[in-house]
Amino acid sequence: MKEEIQKVLADLSELRCQTRKDVEEARIRFLGKKGEVTKLFDEFRTMDKEMKKEFGKTLNDLKQTVQNRIEEFKNQAASEDSTQAAAQDLTMPGDAIALGSRHPVSIVRQEIVDIFRKFGYDVAEGPEIEDDYHVFEALNFPPNHPARDMQDTFFVSAGHPNPLLLRTHTSSVQVRAMETMKLPIRVICPGRVFRNEAISARAHCIFHQVEGLYIDENVTFADLKQAILLFAREMFGPDTEIRMRPSFFPFTEPSAEVDVSCNICHGKGCNICKGTGWLEILGCGMVDPNVLEASGIDSKKYSGFAFGMGLERIAMLKWRVNDLRHYFENDMRFLREFSSAVEV
Ligand code: DAH
Repeated sequence: MKEEIQKVLADLSELRCQTRKDVEEARIRFLGKKGEVTKLFDEFRTMDKEMKKEFGKTLNDLKQTVQNRIEEFKNQAASEDSTQAAAQDLTMPGDAIALGSRHPVSIVRQEIVDIFRKFGYDVAEGPEIEDDYHVFEALNFPPNHPARDMQDTFFVSAGHPNPLLLRTHTSSVQVRAMETMKLPIRVICPGRVFRNEAISARAHCIFHQVEGLYIDENVTFADLKQAILLFAREMFGPDTEIRMRPSFFPFTEPSAEVDVSCNICHGKGCNICKGTGWLEILGCGMVDPNVLEASGIDSKKYSGFAFGMGLERIAMLKWRVNDLRHYFENDMRFLREFSSAVEV
């Protein structure tokens, strides 16, 4: 027994533990069920009284010594773990989290909103599910106007004098602005619109518009022209020219379509402007007196202008995207191209 105890002590003095795993292995080796110390205790149990007297205390001391030593190793391993953690270089750059980027339509919307904010316009929004009154009737569309046709409009509930439908343009928000805002009104209304169109490179059943409305006393067509010119120069560059072509919208009189000079070929003619040197960007006009009156505004005292533009179209011109479907398919290769277009 004496030699065996000596051997355990010798083994213990040679014991080296680095990791928690080493410590656990040592514990099993000495104190486990078949461990060196446990075996001595098994032997002890078979001894006669005299021998038990001789070795009882020694064995208990041995067990205590082994336990203390293992405990020491355990503490060392734990502190090693934490110094290792502290030894990590905290100045190392972290793993970069891939940042998403803004959608091209959102980038263009924000640019337009920022430009008109500078001109003193407020931003208003309205519901995407609208009623016939706000989308058509209050905007002077005659009852049988083709835009109301099932072919063009998605109806939510039909067979009703004022059916619910998905708005086909953001001009409906003009009406809500005239109903609720105090005069004078200077407002732009960005939003999503819906039309029952076959999806192609040039048309989609969902797209986005920004509507603009300015109503005050003595607002003239010259004010409209100036507002659009300033906007075009902010948006497309200081050398941009505009031209207005007479057009028709039920809610404006007179109405015009606005082209900007092609900033790609500078008027020489290219395939983007189809050789004309001009790109169409929006529709506009002086708010029809019927429209003012429908929303309770005195058309003898007040006049105003309105304009509306498609965001996808402006983004197409800005980045020369040739297929409208790219905006809606969320192909990451397309979306990533805009990651450096704007600071997020
Ligand atoms: N609502 C027209 C459309 O969807 C765009 C438009 C044209 C808006 C002329 C206007 C405007 O406010 O005056 O095509």
